[in-house]
Amino acid sequence: MRASVLAQWAVPSPCFHSTNLIPTAEVLHFRMLLMPLTEAASERTWRQIVRKRAGVLRSLGQKATLAERARGRRDLILITGGLGYVGSHAVRYLLEQGREVLLFDNLVYGHEAASSGAPYVIGDLNNPQDIRAVFRQHDIDSVMHFAAFAAVGESVEEPKKYFDNNVRAGLNLLDAMLEADVKRLVFSSTCAIFGEPVEIPMTEDHPRNPTNPYGESKLFFEKALKWYDGAYGLKAMCLRYFNAAGAHPSGEIGEDHDPERHLIPLVIGAATGLRPALTVFGDDYPTPDGTCIRDYIHVSDLAQAHLLALEKLEQGGPSGAYNLGNGHGYSVLEVIKTVENVTGLEAPYSFGERRAGDPARLVGSSQKAFDELGWKPQFADLRTIVATAWKWHKAHPHGYGNG
Ligand SMILES: NC(=O)c1ccc[n+]([C@@H]2O[C@H](COP(=O)([O-])OP(=O)(O)OC[C@H]3O[C@@H](n4cnc5c(N)ncnc54)[C@H](O)[C@@H]3O)[C@@H](O)[C@H]2O)c1
Repeated sequence: MRASVLAQWAVPSPCFHSTNLIPTAEVLHFRMLLMPLTEAASERTWRQIVRKRAGVLRSLGQKATLAERARGRRDLILITGGLGYVGSHAVRYLLEQGREVLLFDNLVYGHEAASSGAPYVIGDLNNPQDIRAVFRQHDIDSVMHFAAFAAVGESVEEPKKYFDNNVRAGLNLLDAMLEADVKRLVFSSTCAIFGEPVEIPMTEDHPRNPTNPYGESKLFFEKALKWYDGAYGLKAMCLRYFNAAGAHPSGEIGEDHDPERHLIPLVIGAATGLRPALTVFGDDYPTPDGTCIRDYIHVSDLAQAHLLALEKLEQGGPSGAYNLGNGHGYSVLEVIKTVENVTGLEAPYSFGERRAGDPARLVGSSQKAFDELGWKPQFADLRTIVATAWKWHKAHPHGYGNG
């Protein structure tokens, strides 16, 4: 966890953040709300906490009533992990489509500057009381669940971290949903649930044999959702992305992971000199140029798929699972060349050994999403994906900075 996050939780901070998009919504700093008063360091701090709690509690009285609904209140979508990379782009898209959102994020990897002005709650799914409080205090209709850890290599070294956050914390979310009688969920799953490809492109029916704890944790959650549907009627759409890439076309939000493990930002960083030269793992794969082929899908296209999936549930549709990819893979060398073309900069790289467990080719079939959801990716070609990423990185060479 970043020191700044700990500092923010330890020191009383303003409870309310204004937002230009939804002026009546407040952001609750949950640590402030939930912290036992005895933890207050001094009488002055104690008084500040009481005053701020009073403000928070006043805001709780603003929960939407049935009358407000009848007057045309828009459905409220809770976005867990809404300050992260994919979640923040979904938030921006939902706002553009006129939907109302509330974000929930523990800021372990998220950025407050990525909120697009939407209201957000700082809380942790690992703390059941944080997420239950959100459902008690807000009239939530549906959930998009992005919050998770997502680094394959790290998951092999620290499986507990992944099962705790991606399974145990996810089940806390489901408990809170059931308690509040919220029965619609769109879940960020991954192609990592499939493991080694036995056929390309990979369809939804591909055998599911994850080769790392990350994929296993996501598959476990998918299975839990199946049983929760059968027993409790919780309807879920599992969206299995391949490699999310690119940035919002405005260049205002984009990808800022720390550490960064994704290819396009690493190549752009190498080209600008802000990151070291790239190591390409393996040049002897059975692919046309010898480097691995992966399927890159634009993050705003993923956002569109999330809303389509939710709309299907809103219309009373059944639970489902969809692969979201381009159906067309690009090799590591093709990505490097495209970055060089788009930026006009040389991206230095050298070849290293193959990494254990890296398949030569991972490409998904999204035919089912096209047919059943009506998904139409708008930014599918690699040059467009890289151009949007470049626009973001050029405007924000250090990402969100302290945001
Ligand atoms: N980025 C990809 O290429 C990719 C591919 C397949 C699947 N996914 C899935 O998409 C989702 C989002 O990925 P991303 O790349 O945006 O990651 P990210 O790290 O940028 O975003 C995840 C967000 O969730 C928050 N979070 C994590 N654990 C939390 C918790 N316990 N409580 C509250 N907030 C928490 C983090 O602070 C972060 O803001 C993940 O579920 C990931 O598994 C991503």
